[in-house]
Order: sequence, then structure tokens, then C-alpha cells
Amino acid sequence: MRFPIHFLIFIPYLILVSGENDIDEDREGDGVDVIEVRNDAIRIRWKHDSDEEIVTRQRLVVTVMRSSQQTEKSSQTVLVDAFLRDYTFIGLAGNTTYRLSVEAFKNETSLWYASNMATTSLAALPWLHAPSELTLMDRKNESIEVSWIPPVVLEAGHHFIITQHLVKVYDLSGNSSTNKRSITVPIPLTRLQIDGLKPATAYNVTVQAGTSYGYGNKVWCAFATLDSDEANILKLRSRTPNSLTVYWPANWLTKTTSKFTIKAKTIHSPTGVSKEIENSAIGEPGKAHEFVVDNLLPSSTYNITITTSDDQLKNGGKKWTQMRWKHGWAVFSTMSQGEYGVAEARIVVETDFAVSIVFQPLKLAGRNITYQIKYTLKDRNSSQITNELTDSNLKCPKFECQWKCALIFNLPHRPREYKFEIRAKVDNVWNRWSPVTLRQWNLLERVCSIHPPSDLVGHLGDYTRQRDIDVQSAKVPQIADVWRYMVVVDSRPYDLAPIDITKLADRTTSEADHVPYYITAALTPEEVKNHGDFRIGDGKIYGGYLNYPLRTEIDPRWTLIPVTQSENEMIEPHLKTCGFNEQGTFKCDMSISEVFTQIPIVLVSAGFLILILVIFLMCLLVFCFLRNSCQDRPGVKESALMYYRSDSPNTISTCREYRKIERREFNAADMEERMRFREHE
Ligand SMILES: *[C@@H]1O[C@H](CO)[C@@H](O)[C@H](O)[C@H]1NC(C)=O
Ligand SMILES: *[C@@H]1O[C@H](CO)[C@@H](O)[C@H](O)[C@H]1NC(C)=O
Ligand SMILES: *[C@@H]1O[C@H](CO)[C@@H](O)[C@H](O)[C@H]1NC(C)=O
Ligand SMILES: *[C@@H]1O[C@H](CO)[C@@H](O)[C@H](O)[C@H]1NC(C)=O
Ligand SMILES: *[C@@H]1O[C@H](CO)[C@@H](O)[C@H](O)[C@H]1NC(C)=O
Ligand SMILES: *[C@@H]1O[C@H](CO)[C@@H](O)[C@H](O)[C@H]1NC(C)=O
Ligand SMILES: *[C@@H]1O[C@H](CO)[C@@H](O)[C@H](O)[C@H]1NC(C)=O
Ligand SMILES: *[C@@H]1O[C@H](CO)[C@@H](O)[C@H](O)[C@H]1NC(C)=O
Repeated sequence: MRFPIHFLIFIPYLILVSGENDIDEDREGDGVDVIEVRNDAIRIRWKHDSDEEIVTRQRLVVTVMRSSQQTEKSSQTVLVDAFLRDYTFIGLAGNTTYRLSVEAFKNETSLWYASNMATTSLAALPWLHAPSELTLMDRKNESIEVSWIPPVVLEAGHHFIITQHLVKVYDLSGNSSTNKRSITVPIPLTRLQIDGLKPATAYNVTVQAGTSYGYGNKVWCAFATLDSDEANILKLRSRTPNSLTVYWPANWLTKTTSKFTIKAKTIHSPTGVSKEIENSAIGEPGKAHEFVVDNLLPSSTYNITITTSDDQLKNGGKKWTQMRWKHGWAVFSTMSQGEYGVAEARIVVETDFAVSIVFQPLKLAGRNITYQIKYTLKDRNSSQITNELTDSNLKCPKFECQWKCALIFNLPHRPREYKFEIRAKVDNVWNRWSPVTLRQWNLLERVCSIHPPSDLVGHLGDYTRQRDIDVQSAKVPQIADVWRYMVVVDSRPYDLAPIDITKLADRTTSEADHVPYYITAALTPEEVKNHGDFRIGDGKIYGGYLNYPLRTEIDPRWTLIPVTQSENEMIEPHLKTCGFNEQGTFKCDMSISEVFTQIPIVLVSAGFLILILVIFLMCLLVFCFLRNSCQDRPGVKESALMYYRSDSPNTISTCREYRKIERREFNAADMEERMRFREHE
């Protein structure tokens, strides 16, 4: 079975060799010779017997004969002087066959004509990112199965579509120059079983996305096939430039507390540095059956083995019996330095001057990770880079958002004129840029994003629009498990009425709703405790809120409102969305069948929630009735009034509000004032 594969590999090789011979042949006769072919350029050389004295000019024409792209210009003509015999056509398309012709003229009379054909090579497309998450799904003695995630295409001016992925497999044990196979996987498949491999052999697998023009960057990892009678014991959970996390079946260790040894031995490293690392550990009941092999070098390939005793005897048994061992081994490569990409970065809300961006954080425990966003004007060469953003700059306004939230505002041009990219710095090494796609979120999902200002934000950096406050001086009621403290700026001259928490929002939303107070920042309890000082109006982001410069130079009235997790919970937004992207094409994260399965679940759960709510309200009604109505309890009424000045007289709603209010104590000063007010009544 292996014969045809080798046969196929050799055919192009032979053609290439014979083709080169043709070029090298220095024929004395007339003609156009193709000297060099690239993906975007062809160089030709020609000779003609015509007396050079009488040739006045020459016309060179390059014409598309066969192309996989219809949009290209079909021909180019250049006029050159009489003595030129060598020319390079540039700006050609990849994977395209051209006719290249030369015509010599004496004034208007054609003296000589010759032509040749050449096909440009497939381009290396540097803007096309490598696929991500190259994963070994399964391995057997003669095959391995891999999967990957295609890259996102979002480069200005590159409206290409990924049509296939090219998978190359190199045998690492043999002659690397010839022992290779290429397999083209058509879209939408992103999984491939590679058959016909040798047992117990390591292979380098590379994957790159392809358009009809050429191929993008490669992702690679080495994997090994199993030995003939071996089971797949060691599997790879994750990899970083310096570590490999491997795991094994739960019941593989003889006892949960068995001792095991994990060795890593270099098979290949780009710098030629070899390492042999040995770790011993003892299984811990209830812990994951995994081990992090650390201190490895980037872009290096290791043979990892795990060894444990296969003795079924109890501890303290016959110690003199021969120990039996069992092993498992596998080959994996560490990630290349700088290869981390930021996943699912998207613009979820945009205004004329601002974009609100969310993305999935890199999931690397115990690492220092910061992010940076770059925005480049599409038709110009200028790009801007934000400061390094840490976790504390990237908080979302709601509890339990799985995203990181960022806001870029006061853009000089409309957001659509920019290309946005994001990258991560892990342990002081910057990684590659990942594109930020435009994927607008619906209103429900937007709670996990920063609400962008609808206009230019004025007075940035103007000290007269900023105020230092001491947040610790605020009289905040002590309540258990505060999630965040909202710094609220109140533009009313004095307490006309208490602040309605349900109406609290960022400044843009408050302005739109004509609410006279807004959240300017959300601080964690630690931030309040550690840094007592806070500057209102510094134009930075705190806890998912933009700290707008103050509207006036007058000292603002402000309060600190504690909010618990349950008060700020939200429904996790769907990760999957459908919609039109910026090129106007319909894009959907889900397949049609998924869309359909989605609908009944939403309806059923909505119905279920309503049912629960109705039952809950009925229970409350009965409860309140039995307690001889809630209104008879003065304390309750008091706090209810404090928060909901336009409260309905309806018993049910007052009762329900009361539940909420118990956890939402309000500023002590207001409480006092309110009490005084009631005394006067
Ligand atoms: C070409 O045409 C020019 C006038 O345009 C003339 O002066 C010249 O003699 C011509 N050359 C030849 C070689 O006929
Ligand atoms: C690898 O192949 C090339 C040409 O096919 C040959 O010249 C070379 O000796 C081979 N190397 C090994 C290690 O087999
Ligand atoms: C695997 O292939 C990639 C891309 O060609 C290369 O950079 C890498 O060094 C190779 N790995 C090994 C172990 O040969
Ligand atoms: C190159 O072009 C030919 C014909 O236009 C097409 O069949 C082939 O798929 C193209 N190659 C790639 C890699 O897109
Ligand atoms: C691979 O394993 C299968 C059974 O799982 C066996 O039939 C086959 O002979 C093995 N191949 C080699 C090369 O050992
Ligand atoms: C990896 O190590 C194991 C155990 O030492 C050995 O049996 C196996 O052949 C090695 N594999 C490779 C590809 O070097
Ligand atoms: C992260 O960086 C800070 C200072 O930049 C340092 O103190 C801290 O130890 C680092 N943490 C880790 C896990 O490397
Ligand atoms: C445009 O970009 C290139 C490289 O991308 C750089 O060398 C050049 O200086 C830039 N030009 C301007 C005007 O910024």
C-alpha cells in the first residue's frame, strides 16, 4: 500500500528537475526564456537575431491564461527600449498561468515576436495566520488522527476565502528531505486521520490554511504512532513554550497512590540543546491524573515516558519478589515562542468614536499575562497601540463574565476604517497578533462588555474635571460578600430622593435615560481597602466602567454603593451568534441544525422560568397574607421607600422588593436624613 504514496511524491520532483534543465539549456535560437518564477513575479530573458540597430522599441505583454481568481487584471503591457533583453514582471497573482510575449518593432513595423508560458507558484501568505490548537485526537500503530482550528481571515484587502488546509507529515526518524507526505483537506473538515505510518515512529505534522493563491503560516507538533501491542497511555492536555501537560487513564496506575516516574528526553531542538529530565511523583487520590513536565525549551520535541510498578501486591508484601514495571511513551513538541493567539476577540458594540472589545483570556494558570490592542487605519500605514492591559484593566461590568472587556474610545476615524488586532504577553514574551472580528452582540449579551461612549469624550486629562476622593471615608454599610463597590457620581444638588439601584448604569446610559446619577467606576473590595484614594474623572476604565471627566468643575457629590455577586449576576451570553459581518456576508457560528436545537431550549427554559416566578410570587402572596401583610412592618416599609420612591402600593411587589433591599443597605447619611424626615411626618 505504501508504494503509490512514494510514487506520487517523486513525480513532482522529477518534473521539477526536468523543468530546471529546460531553463538551464542555453539555446542559441530565438525565444523567450523563463529565468525565475515566484508567486508574484516572473523573470524572462530573450534574444533575437534582428539587427539591434534598427529595432526602435520592444513591447512586452503578460496575459493570464489560467487563473483560479477571476478578479485579477487579465494583461499588462510594457514598452521597453531596444537594448533590453531581461525583464521581471511583478505584481502577478499566485497559482496562475501566464503567457509572456516579447515583440520588437522598427517604428510601427513588427520585426520579431516570441512567447512562452509560466505558472506562478503558490504564494506564502504571511498575513494568513497559522491554524491553532493542533491536537492529537487518537493514535494507533499505523495511524494518527489530528484536529485543528482554522485561522480567522481579517486582513484589509485580503478578501480571500480559506478553501483547504494543507497537512504535511515528515518522518522524523528517516531522511527528512524525502520522507514527507502532503495531504489537502477541503473545508469544512478540520480533522484528519493519517494512515500508512510506521509503528513506534515519531512524525512532524504541520498544518497551514490555504486559499487558491497560496498558503499561510504553519502550526506544527511532533507525534508518535503506537508500538504494535501498545495502548495509548500518555496523552497531551496542553502545551506552552516551556511545558507539556500530559495525562493518562484514571485506572492506569496500579493503585491511586502508586509511585510513577516521568522522563522527558529531547528528540529534536532548534538550538541543538538536548535535555533529559526525570520526575518522580506519587499519585494522589482525588487529583487529576496529569503531570506538568516543566523546564523544557520552546519549539523542541521530547520523548515522554511514564513508568510505574505493575505489582498488585499490597505494601509491605514480599519485598524480594522481582518488581514488574509498565510503561507508556509518547512524543510531543513544545509550542514555539510567541505562538499564543488570543481567541474569539470581537468588537461587540461600536459607536462613531469607540469600540467595545471582548476576548477569551489565555488559560494559563500562574503566569503573568498582559494584553495589548493595536488599531491600524486600513488604507494608511499608521497604527496605534494601547498600553499593556492587565487583568485589572480588563474587567467586565457584570459578575461571572467569562470574557475580558476592553474599550477604545475617542477614535479619530470611524471604527470601520480600522483593523483591530490583539496580542498577549506571557512571562515577558510578546506573542503574535490575532485579529479582532466585528461580531455585534445583542442587548442581552452586551452586559458582558463595556458600554461605549456615544460621542467624543471631552476634557480628558483636564484636572479641573477630576477630583480626588477618599473612598474609605465613605459611610458604607457593612454587608457580607461584597463583590464590587460602585463609585456613583450624583449630579443632583442634594438628596431629593434616594438612589434607585435598578437605574444605576454607566454615564452614557444614564444620560440617555435622564437619570441624574451614574456609575463612574467599580472597585473591588481589595482596591477600596488598599488604595483609599480614587480620582474621579481620570478617563480610565475601572471594573468595566469608563471614569468620565466630570461634566462641570463643581465638586461632585458621590457615594459608594456595595453590590454583591447575586445582585450583579447575569445570564452567560451565548458564545455562538449569527449575523452579517462587515463584508456583508452572512456568518454563523452554528450550523443550521444547531440553530434549530437552540430554539426549543430557549423557549422551554423561558417558560420554565416564568412558571417558577409565578409559583414564587404566589408563595409570597400566601406568606404575606399569613403574616398579616408586609406593610404592617415599619422597618420593611422604611427601607422599601428608601430605594423605590415610586413604589407601587401593591403588596406583592413591596414584599419582593424587601427581599432585595435587605442585602442592599444604603449610605448611612441618607438613612439618617430619611429618619429625620419621617420624624417630621
Ligand atoms: C522612425 O520614425 C521616425 C519619425 O517618427 C524617423 O525619423 C525615423 O527615421 C524612423 N526610423 C526608421 C529606422 O525608419
Ligand atoms: C537522504 O536522501 C538524500 C537524497 O535522497 C541522500 O543523498 C542522503 O544520503 C539521504 N540521507 C540519509 C541519512 O539517508
Ligand atoms: C517540524 O516542521 C516545522 C515546520 O517545517 C519545523 O519548523 C520544525 O522544526 C519541525 N520539527 C521537527 C522536530 O523537525
Ligand atoms: C491552483 O489553480 C488550479 C486551477 O486554477 C486549481 O484547481 C487549484 O486548486 C489551485 N491550487 C490551489 C492550492 O488553490
Ligand atoms: C497494527 O495493529 C493491528 C491490530 O490492531 C494489526 O493487525 C497490525 O498487524 C498491526 N500492524 C503492525 C505493523 O504491527
Ligand atoms: C521513546 O522512549 C521509549 C522508552 O525509552 C522508547 O521505547 C521509544 O522507542 C522512544 N521513541 C522514540 C521515537 O524515540
Ligand atoms: C508577575 O509580575 C510581578 C511583577 O511584574 C511579579 O512580582 C510576580 O512575581 C509575577 N508573577 C509570576 C507568577 O510570575
Ligand atoms: C509603512 O510601513 C513600512 C513597513 O510596513 C515601513 O517601513 C514604513 O516606514 C511605513 N511608512 C510610513 C509612512 O509609516
